[in-house]
Amino acid sequence: MITLGIESTAHTLSIGVTRDGRVLSNAIDMYRAPKGKGMIPRELADHHAAVFAGVFRKALGDAEAGMDDVDLIAFSQGPGIGSALAVGCGAAKYLAEKYGKKLIGVNHCYAHVKISEHLAGMRNPLILYLSGGNSQIIIQRNGLYHVLGETLDIGIGNLFDNFARSIGMKHAHGSELERLAHGGKYVELPYSVKGMNLVFSGLLTHAEKVAKKESKKDVAYSLMETAFAMTCEATERALFLTRKKSLVICGGVAQNRRLQKMLETMCKEDKIKFGVAPDEFNRDNGAMIAYAGEVMYKKRKPAMKTEEWAPLPNQRIDRI
Ligand code: FE2
Repeated sequence: MITLGIESTAHTLSIGVTRDGRVLSNAIDMYRAPKGKGMIPRELADHHAAVFAGVFRKALGDAEAGMDDVDLIAFSQGPGIGSALAVGCGAAKYLAEKYGKKLIGVNHCYAHVKISEHLAGMRNPLILYLSGGNSQIIIQRNGLYHVLGETLDIGIGNLFDNFARSIGMKHAHGSELERLAHGGKYVELPYSVKGMNLVFSGLLTHAEKVAKKESKKDVAYSLMETAFAMTCEATERALFLTRKKSLVICGGVAQNRRLQKMLETMCKEDKIKFGVAPDEFNRDNGAMIAYAGEVMYKKRKPAMKTEEWAPLPNQRIDRI
C-alpha cells in the first residue's frame, strides 16, 4: 500500500510517501518568521500554498512514484494553526478528488507517536511528546490515548522560542538557543512541577529578567537545564506510577541532545528502555502523516466522504 502524507500544522509544509510502513520520501519546506516575530498565520498559509507544488513533485520524484501508484492520501488534521491546516486539508481534498483516491485525516501528535514507536522498535511505551505548543506525558490503554501530565501553560518549545526572541536572537528557535547555551554556567531559576504537570511561564518571565543583568549564555543554559530537569522529574513519576518498562520521546524538542542524554541516564538508573527516532522524524514531516494514515486505514477504513473532512485546530490526542 502506497500512502502520500501531507503535513501543514505549523511552520513546515512537508509531503512524504510510504509503502507498507517503509518511508520512500520526505520532502520539506519550512517557513521562517520575520526577525523578532512569531509565526504570522496569513504568511504561513501563503508560504505553504506557494511551495506546495514543488514539495509535492519532490516527494513523488524521490519516491519514484506517480499519483497512479498512490492508494491513500493522508493529511494532518490538527492540532495546529487554522490557516496552515486549511492549506494542507484543501490540497489533500483536491488531490483525492482529482485522482480518485481515498482520504484520511490524521492527528499530528498521533503521527509523532506512531512513527517514533515504529522506528524505535517499541510497543506501547510511555510517551513523552515535546514540541513548540505541546508538552505531554501520554499512555495508550485499550486503544485510547490518555494524557497523564502536560504543561499547564506554554509548550516547552515555545518557552525556548519566546526566550530566544526576547534576547534578540536572529533565528528565535530552540536549536539556535541550544548552540548559545553550550558551555554556559548555571544560575538559579524557578522550578515548577505539579505532580506530572509542568508550568513554564514563571520560568520564562524570571529568565527574561535575569538575562538583562547576567550573561545571556548562562541564562540560556540554565533555562534549558531547568526545563529539562522538570520534564525528567514528571516523566520519572509517570514511569513509576504506570510501571512502564520503556519510554519513547517524540516531537521537535526530542531532537535536543542534552535532553536525550538526561532521559537516557535516568532510564538506565531505573532499568527502563529508552527510544528516540532520528531527527528527521521528530521534526514535523509528511512521512509520519503517511505512516500513521496507513496504520489507521488498516485498522478501520474511514466512513467519511472526501468533502466531509475538515481541519480540527484543537484536536487533542486523547480525543481521537
Ligand atoms: Fe510536531
